[in-house]
Amino acid sequence: MFTRMRTVAVGALLVLGLAACGGEGAGGGGGAGAGEAPGDLTVGVSMPTQTSERWIADGNAVRDQLTAAGYQVDLQYANDDIPTQSQQIDQMVTSGADLLLVAAIDGTALSGQLQAAKDAGIPVVAYDRLIRESPNVDFYVTFDNFQVGVAQANALLRGMGLQNADGSPGPERGPVVVELFAGSLDDNNAFYFFDGAMSVLKPLIDDGTVRVKSGQTTIEQAATLRWAQETAQKRMEDLLTSSYNDGSSPDGVLSPYDGISRGVLTALQNAGFGTPAKPMPTVTGQDAEIASVKLIDDGVQSSTVFKDTRQLAEQAVVAAKAFLDGGTPEANDTTTYDNGVKVVPSYLLPVRTVFKADIAPVLVDSGYYTAEDVARGRQG
Ligand code: GAL
Repeated sequence: MFTRMRTVAVGALLVLGLAACGGEGAGGGGGAGAGEAPGDLTVGVSMPTQTSERWIADGNAVRDQLTAAGYQVDLQYANDDIPTQSQQIDQMVTSGADLLLVAAIDGTALSGQLQAAKDAGIPVVAYDRLIRESPNVDFYVTFDNFQVGVAQANALLRGMGLQNADGSPGPERGPVVVELFAGSLDDNNAFYFFDGAMSVLKPLIDDGTVRVKSGQTTIEQAATLRWAQETAQKRMEDLLTSSYNDGSSPDGVLSPYDGISRGVLTALQNAGFGTPAKPMPTVTGQDAEIASVKLIDDGVQSSTVFKDTRQLAEQAVVAAKAFLDGGTPEANDTTTYDNGVKVVPSYLLPVRTVFKADIAPVLVDSGYYTAEDVARGRQG
């Protein structure tokens, strides 16, 4: 059905093109695919920002793997600015991209662009973040985002001694004091991470084992716009001032992303945490960004959740190739990701929690980082 609709759309474009008679061409007749050599096909890759290592790693991995498969690649970053991302995608559509791979800044802001893509017969694959409120999302490649949240909450409990590595109850009985951070409310993933984490923490909050001293337990209260490190640092400073001015200390902080973790850790360090007399609270994370892996190695950050961007890129390429060959990619989840208009068929990848002892076996032995990268806290 997809191929048929695409053919109709391309046909309509051709008619329009002829009618325009001498107007500027669209550059390649976007959306063409089956039967064409990969070298004649362009994949538009729209990434949110270069200020976070993780998206640079994603962009590089996707570009390299698409190029290795023979495709042309138009890779753009949008500086976390919604109008910039909209413009870049508009440009990809008008210049004749054959497929779009999009990691949205604001999951609800791209309906117009996606409609234009649909009208031009261009398949759209949402990358890592679901695009919401649009029927024109054909596939979604991501990690198991709910499980990311579950893993973060378990890592928080383990770091505070409430849980052993095998999930059994740890030596610490509580009550423990924590604060909760969440991601950006315009990113659908933030809700999955928070809900996953709360599926573990809520019963413990309810029975008094875990206490959120600030009382800020809703995702709206815990949110961090654009996942920004500085915003998280500011909120942690405010929490310390408002809720810990009585000499008490948090035992742990749930953080959904390494950039947020670094903001939280900076606030804690500035308040004197991280000494034998005032140990650093357990701080979780996500993405295994190299700066945070070093902090874990140095015993500052407790853990992160590793999402192998090489695997995500690989799945994105598999999905792109399926569409460009005129078929549809194979989903392993067809129920979870309702984008407000439809359930988007998805391919979910597993995640892995990384504590200090896991850095060598999981991140270095797999070639994700070198031991030197970890020691330096940056790549290359
Ligand atoms: C989310 C993504 C996380 C993290 C965060 C901030 O959408 O799933 O892994 O990267 O954005 O960039």
